Amino acid sequence: MSLKGKVCIITGASGGIGKAVVEKLAGEGATLVLAARRLEVLEDLKAKVKGKENILCVQCDVTKQKDLESLINTTLLEYKKIDVVINGAGVSSQHPFWEQPLEDIEKVMYTNYFSYVMLARLVVNHMKDRKCGHIINITSGSVMVEPPPRNFLVYTSLKVGLRAFAKGLFWEMRDFGIKVTSIFPGVTDTPLTGKLKDVSGEAGRLMEPETIADAILFALKQPANACPLELAVINQTTPWTKPVIPFKQKHPEK
Ligand SMILES: NC(=O)c1ccc[n+]([C@@H]2O[C@H](COP(=O)([O-])OP(=O)(O)OC[C@H]3O[C@@H](n4cnc5c(N)ncnc54)[C@H](OP(=O)(O)O)[C@@H]3O)[C@@H](O)[C@H]2O)c1
Repeated sequence: MSLKGKVCIITGASGGIGKAVVEKLAGEGATLVLAARRLEVLEDLKAKVKGKENILCVQCDVTKQKDLESLINTTLLEYKKIDVVINGAGVSSQHPFWEQPLEDIEKVMYTNYFSYVMLARLVVNHMKDRKCGHIINITSGSVMVEPPPRNFLVYTSLKVGLRAFAKGLFWEMRDFGIKVTSIFPGVTDTPLTGKLKDVSGEAGRLMEPETIADAILFALKQPANACPLELAVINQTTPWTKPVIPFKQKHPEK
């Protein structure tokens, strides 16, 4: 299926995976609305990619409902429709639970769970009216680890909830022509994983963000009668029996 002219909102567009998604989709002729807090990073990205005339940058703090409402309204005002929402904004917080800063718990909950559910809720009636649309959530390969990995309890349990939400949303919206896809990336080389590359000692274990963007492109290009509900892209060389994330690791600095 062609993405030419499809209007796609991408949250977390200034980050590692989001940026890779922007580059791929711009090359496909899609119309893109890039959302993140750092407007200057978005504008810089826009200036560098193909098809910049079809890109709109919107400053948005996804933890704030009014910013999400404004993101939807601005997109509709400018382009009259929304075909795709890619929820990619995310933060990490790696700590033993008893030491996890209290403010991190709130930040992870609002960024990684609340914003995904709220943005879906804000767009779903528009998609329902048009009898088409695709919501893609960048979840995490950590949902496949049982029990949730140490240091990642809050992060992973929210991603598990997000997986359940997306699966249920698909079945609820399927007859309205709306697709829902969860992408489960393994450990990917982005600012979110910070210094993990150095810590793990084997840089090649981390995947490139473009690999995850390719999975998203695959999901988007399927024919109207097919929805990849879940796509896991996991590191071939990361044995779960030997965690890449040490028990004691400081939160990567921004
Ligand atoms: N990297 C991995 O290994 C990995 C593995 C599994 C899953 N994931 C998931 O993949 C997604 C993207 O992660 P990434 O690795 O690309 O991270 P990243 O490089 O750190 O990028 C995170 C993005 O989220 C945005 N963001 C964070 N807080 C925000 C807020 N309050 N409002 C708006 N935007 C906000 C950041 O933009 P601003 O700072 O400009 O706002 C940035 O664009 C996340 O959901 C993450 O959990 C990543």
